[in-house]
Amino acid sequence: MDEKQAQILRLKEEKNAVIMAHYYVDDNIQEIADYVGDSYYLSEMATRVKEKTIVLCGVSFMGESAKLLNPEKRVLLPDLEADCPMAHMASVEKIEEVRATYKEDVAVVCYVNSTAELKAHSDVCVTSSNALKVVKALPNPVIYFIPDRQLGTYISRRIPEKKFIFNDGGCPIHTVITREDVQSALACHPGAKILVHPECREEVIEMADYIGSTSGIIDHATASSAREFIVVTELGVMYELKKRNPEKSFYSTAAGQICEDMKKITLDKIISVLEQDGAGLEMAADLMDKANAPLKRMLELSR
Ligand code: 13P
Ligand code: SF4
Repeated sequence: MDEKQAQILRLKEEKNAVIMAHYYVDDNIQEIADYVGDSYYLSEMATRVKEKTIVLCGVSFMGESAKLLNPEKRVLLPDLEADCPMAHMASVEKIEEVRATYKEDVAVVCYVNSTAELKAHSDVCVTSSNALKVVKALPNPVIYFIPDRQLGTYISRRIPEKKFIFNDGGCPIHTVITREDVQSALACHPGAKILVHPECREEVIEMADYIGSTSGIIDHATASSAREFIVVTELGVMYELKKRNPEKSFYSTAAGQICEDMKKITLDKIISVLEQDGAGLEMAADLMDKANAPLKRMLELSR
């Protein structure tokens, strides 16, 4: 453990804080975090921790979800500019248009990678690990899936009985990866199993041996008897994959697979947000009320 990591551990005791981190942040943060997980795990865990302060090491929608589910807690974000671009790729106007057309037949299903404003206008939230279960449980025959077209398409193929309306949003990191990128990686490592996040293009999903959230990918590789894997998601997951499976080999494609926003979180910024001891994330009360309901419904439907 280095000096900065040790300082964070001292500060978090002093401030009665817990450090939660997503699998995409730098290894040195995952190493000292109290909880590391996918988006679902982090939002669920945020409702269970005892500490008064949560330091959320991830992009802003993750901090917002923690705050919405726990209004009485202080949620500190080490970098307010670490933001998921996809979170902004849908509009309230279009949601209202779809609602006016389909009335009570439609459920607006909002991927958690979205702003609190979009959540406030939605019926239920989903993450990549529970989207299938949650959408299946909805009584509505029509689903307007925002903001991620890729995850929406992936879910729609598995629930053919519902009509899906898609929105043109997507993750710039996952959608840039092509079938050819995965084929080239496979040519270098023939026989390796292909692990894909559902934010990827359909042409990449079709090549997968396993499709799932970051936690799903890590759990699957750990349980698998295979020895070699091509990992088709952001490369932060490599830390946990290698930690749990030192005898297995994990490869990436040549398509980058780095989320610059997640990498904005650093040890220095965690120290600084703890030292500043500010009020943390704040949102207007009515926005919080409205955006909290679809998140709570997600937790109920996915338990
Ligand atoms: P997970 O919920 O699978 O961790 O995904 C979050 C994310 O931002 C993927 O790009
Ligand atoms: Fe958003 Fe993509 Fe980064 Fe995930 S990897 S936080 S979806 S930009």
